[in-house]
Amino acid sequence: MAAYDASLSFNIYQPTRVLFADGAVSELGLECKRLGIERALVVTDKFLREKTDVIARVEKALGARLAGIYDGVIPDTGVEVIDSGARYARELRADGLVSVGGGSAIDTAKGMAIVITEGGSIRDHQGSSRLQRRQTPHIAVPTTAGTGSEVTLYIVVKDHAKHEKMHFMEERIIPDTAILDPSVTLGMPRGLTAATGVDALTHAIESYTSINRNPLADANALHAMRLVSEHLPRAVDDGQDKVARGQMLLAANIAGTAFNSTGVGMVHAMAHVIGARHSVHHGTANAICLPHVMRFNNDELAARYREVAEAMGVDVRGKSDEAAGLAAADAVARLITTVGLPARLRDVKVPENDLPDCAEASLSDGAIVFNGKFAADKDLVLGVYREAY
Ligand SMILES: NC(=O)c1ccc[n+]([C@@H]2O[C@H](COP(=O)([O-])OP(=O)(O)OC[C@H]3O[C@@H](n4cnc5c(N)ncnc54)[C@H](O)[C@@H]3O)[C@@H](O)[C@H]2O)c1
Ligand SMILES: [Fe+2]
Repeated sequence: MAAYDASLSFNIYQPTRVLFADGAVSELGLECKRLGIERALVVTDKFLREKTDVIARVEKALGARLAGIYDGVIPDTGVEVIDSGARYARELRADGLVSVGGGSAIDTAKGMAIVITEGGSIRDHQGSSRLQRRQTPHIAVPTTAGTGSEVTLYIVVKDHAKHEKMHFMEERIIPDTAILDPSVTLGMPRGLTAATGVDALTHAIESYTSINRNPLADANALHAMRLVSEHLPRAVDDGQDKVARGQMLLAANIAGTAFNSTGVGMVHAMAHVIGARHSVHHGTANAICLPHVMRFNNDELAARYREVAEAMGVDVRGKSDEAAGLAAADAVARLITTVGLPARLRDVKVPENDLPDCAEASLSDGAIVFNGKFAADKDLVLGVYREAY
């Protein structure tokens, strides 16, 4: 186990109540009561509302505490989506939010929580650690097993006009409660299951190799890696496998707890740009970049990647750290292929001649500075994009 020296210091704030059970959505009414929410606004998208039974179950569980449903969430959310959701919440005099969906729905509600309390547009609040008071209470019900947003201080909002992602880091928007109910993830199709699962794996690996790594995050990150390695192929193979679905929800949640205190790294910086400029799903963009970033990082982070390999069940006994680190990258690449995700940027129609601009844009993404090896250099990033092309 990689050691820390006497200079170790960290400061972790992890306030979310996490409630896990098959059928846990039925606890929503009780949880609202606990938080003093009398008029809950559900934040979701039209697909989940119209094509699944999840929202009907949420409505039933909220009973008299349901004030309304805002179904305006779109993938990667957006400034207008958040601002109009907050206007609707004010009209309804909602006193709490229940987000139901993937990272986009949870992040929409986090943004709305700010605008409802602070006013203006979400655009006015960009930045980090600016909020001074408690925000609107928020219960998050993730329906994907990936982002971990239900326990993190981050919001990612796409500026759809500029094709950029805006980032927020605010302890005050960490949701009050996360309800983890495997039954609401059963409907995820294979591709989404795979992509979101690899997002969780990327959080764990980038947390484990972040410049802010710390022993609490390490413990969570390693366990999340084990869970993803074992249960993601099962969940992709058989979407009705409730055990695998539940363990993946936990993996995503635990990985969220890990990267909440460490940040992510170069993979996320590269993937955010690909997602913003070319509308590639966040998890898929991570999957394509992850093995290549690991190979790029390996000369400085091999000892850490050895432990990633071990957590993923690779036998690295007798191997040098360098060889063990490369074996970790290979194991990740194999997992990505096994679950059916694309391996190359060309496969998701990113034009090759855009790579230099992508590399430039990735330098303004906050994640790049947390990468365990120095990466904030256009030529270095471009080199990895080319490897991944
Ligand atoms: N705040 C954070 O800590 C954090 C971390 C990582 C990623 N993110 C952000 O989260 C977003 C990605 O979230 P995501 O990967 O969860 O996807 P998503 O929320 O964008 O959802 C993608 C699609 O999946 C559908 N979907 C969701 N649950 C489903 C289910 N159970 N069955 C069938 N379809 C379902 C949605 O309707 C949507 O069309 C990105 O914007 C990313 O930048 C945020
Ligand atoms: Fe992510």
